[in-house]
Amino acid sequence: MSTTERNRHVKLAAEIRRLDQAYYQLGKPEVTDFEYDRLLRELTELETQHPEFITPESPTQRVGEKPIEQFPPARHSVPMLSLENTYSPEEVRSFIVRVQKLVADEILDWVVEPKVDGVAVSLTYERGRFIRGATRGDGVTGDEITSNLRTIRGLPLLLNPTHDAEFPETAEIRGEVYLPRHGFERLNRERESAGEERFANARNATVGSLKQLDPREAARRPLAIVLYGVGEYRGTGLPVTQEELLARLKSWGLPTPERTWKANSIDEVLEAIAELDRLRAQFGYDTDGAVVKLNRLHLRERIGVTAKAPRWAMAYKYAPEQAETRLKSITIQVGRTGALTPVAELEPVFLAGSTVARATLHNEEDLRRKDLRLGDTVVIEKAGEVIPAVVRVVTRRRTGAEEPYVFPSKCPECSSVAVREVIASGEGASWRCPNPDCPAQVRGRLEHWCSRGAMDIEGGGEVMVAQLVRAGLARDPADLYRLKLAEVAALERQGEKSASNFLAGIEASRNRELHRLIFGLGILHVGISVAKILARNYPDLNAIASATAPELTLVDGIGETIAKSLENWFADPVHRGLISRLRSCGLQFQSAQYRPRDAQAVGLLTGLTVVLTGTLPTLSREAATLLVESHGGKVSSGVSKKTHLLLAGEEAGSKLTKAQELRIPVLNEGEFLERLSRPDGFQSFRQSL
Ligand code: IVH
Repeated sequence: MSTTERNRHVKLAAEIRRLDQAYYQLGKPEVTDFEYDRLLRELTELETQHPEFITPESPTQRVGEKPIEQFPPARHSVPMLSLENTYSPEEVRSFIVRVQKLVADEILDWVVEPKVDGVAVSLTYERGRFIRGATRGDGVTGDEITSNLRTIRGLPLLLNPTHDAEFPETAEIRGEVYLPRHGFERLNRERESAGEERFANARNATVGSLKQLDPREAARRPLAIVLYGVGEYRGTGLPVTQEELLARLKSWGLPTPERTWKANSIDEVLEAIAELDRLRAQFGYDTDGAVVKLNRLHLRERIGVTAKAPRWAMAYKYAPEQAETRLKSITIQVGRTGALTPVAELEPVFLAGSTVARATLHNEEDLRRKDLRLGDTVVIEKAGEVIPAVVRVVTRRRTGAEEPYVFPSKCPECSSVAVREVIASGEGASWRCPNPDCPAQVRGRLEHWCSRGAMDIEGGGEVMVAQLVRAGLARDPADLYRLKLAEVAALERQGEKSASNFLAGIEASRNRELHRLIFGLGILHVGISVAKILARNYPDLNAIASATAPELTLVDGIGETIAKSLENWFADPVHRGLISRLRSCGLQFQSAQYRPRDAQAVGLLTGLTVVLTGTLPTLSREAATLLVESHGGKVSSGVSKKTHLLLAGEEAGSKLTKAQELRIPVLNEGEFLERLSRPDGFQSFRQSL
């Protein structure tokens, strides 16, 4: 038995590794996320039963359990140098001529690679196992950030063996950690909806993510990695060219640059640089230049290094697209958490493919640092970011008529005196409207509740919400569930049809999955991924509401900040009132995603076998199965004498007939859920055991 399970474990782990590689190295997902999660769950379950199977390289072991105190220093035995930069093709030309002179007798060839805009790291593999990773730091000593690097799923913990060579005893591989654009956008959306400050750009977000002391937090950041170099190398088989090195890294399963160029002359190098510039907008991540490297590694040694950078490589940087325009005014947006965010209103200008009329200004400190005045001519820039940024003021264009901007001391919406709040991420301090009844906050909270990621209520957009609030019909989410058709239809610009669509959307939202409801509450630091973790670890909302902060931190993925925030939120009498009104409106508080830590849950359905048939009104088959299992029950596919109850939906067929023949009790979804909410709900079924 144990050998078959051992084999299954080895096979599963290898399969997950292969899928990681297909996804992260080759960019070709082979299975759905659902299927992937299923395999990972099976592996976890096997390891729960057989802890002796667990190795540090198991795909389940990516995320450490505990925050670390601080990052230990890591000395680089081969210094991590930086690169000489230039914006001029002429300087690339003279760089190549210079190198050629140093090795006049050689015919040189070059490799051109994208310069990924991220954070340089070094990964140490010993005989194919990832054992340590560090940042560049000052080039000689960096921070050891192994536990954060392990969370990057594109980073193999075990290298693929190659046919022709043994693993080197030690290979220190170098590359760049970065946030892909979609990951960066997702992270910022999540932060915004969790009431946190947006990151200004993907690079800052990467730096911030790698600095997390809690690896569980780092694991939530969708970081990626690309490898392009080698430092210390002990063992045989060191490649002789950059091309070979990249091929070797790739065969080991490490992600390498998605496109590189081999060039034999100055002109070919410049052509490659130009082609990369044309292509890079389509890459899934930000690049800020091209790196030109001498191909043959042993020649690099002859050419040598300066104090800071190698003489055999150079970075050509692309100028970011910029434009000049006039700052007409600054408006203040009031977010759902009361955050006051300044927005630059600009004279519209065409930049990198679109017309730009607004740019974010982050916070008051950002304004002050840039010394922005109304009427100023400013330089705006679209680097990788979708939202343009104001880079600086063109002071020589000042006429004297510009006016300093005074950040309002009151909320522009409700006139409450703003309060100052220090932001943990070190990105400065921001102002907040402290009035929870501020109409802008009320609207923001309702819009958030109705939004796609939350309760997904059709028709509950900005306009509808504004009208409801103005008319005094809704102040919090619970009010939505008591709206009458006539009230909504009577609103300005709303007809009978849109009103009834909206009400149907509200109705349908009563049974949304629990994580959507939790997310919809808009608790600080509780984004969609935290909400999912909560729904997986607690059977229902009441259990979450009554958990203390220390209890909450026992859950994988919930750190102290989040736990405190949850505890505070649920302790607030206003929020308690909201929850109890939502409950009495009949909202779904049970978690169908609940997965107790132990393989077999104990609960109301322990010892009972349930058969599902037909289409249930709200629960999918998967959700119903998880729900049964999470309460300790078993789901079986066919009706027999051993079946304790049939959960039947619409168009139930032969299973229903058979259950009736065998006198097996049949429940519909409503009855089933109702019983689950009572401690003695399944008592009678048990007596017939
Ligand atoms: S080679 C000794 N290749 O750019 C040469 N660097 O400005 C070390 N970078 O610190 C670097 N993409 O963080 C190299 N394909 C690439 C790169 C790259 C990004 C970064 C790296 C380096 C910085 C220098």
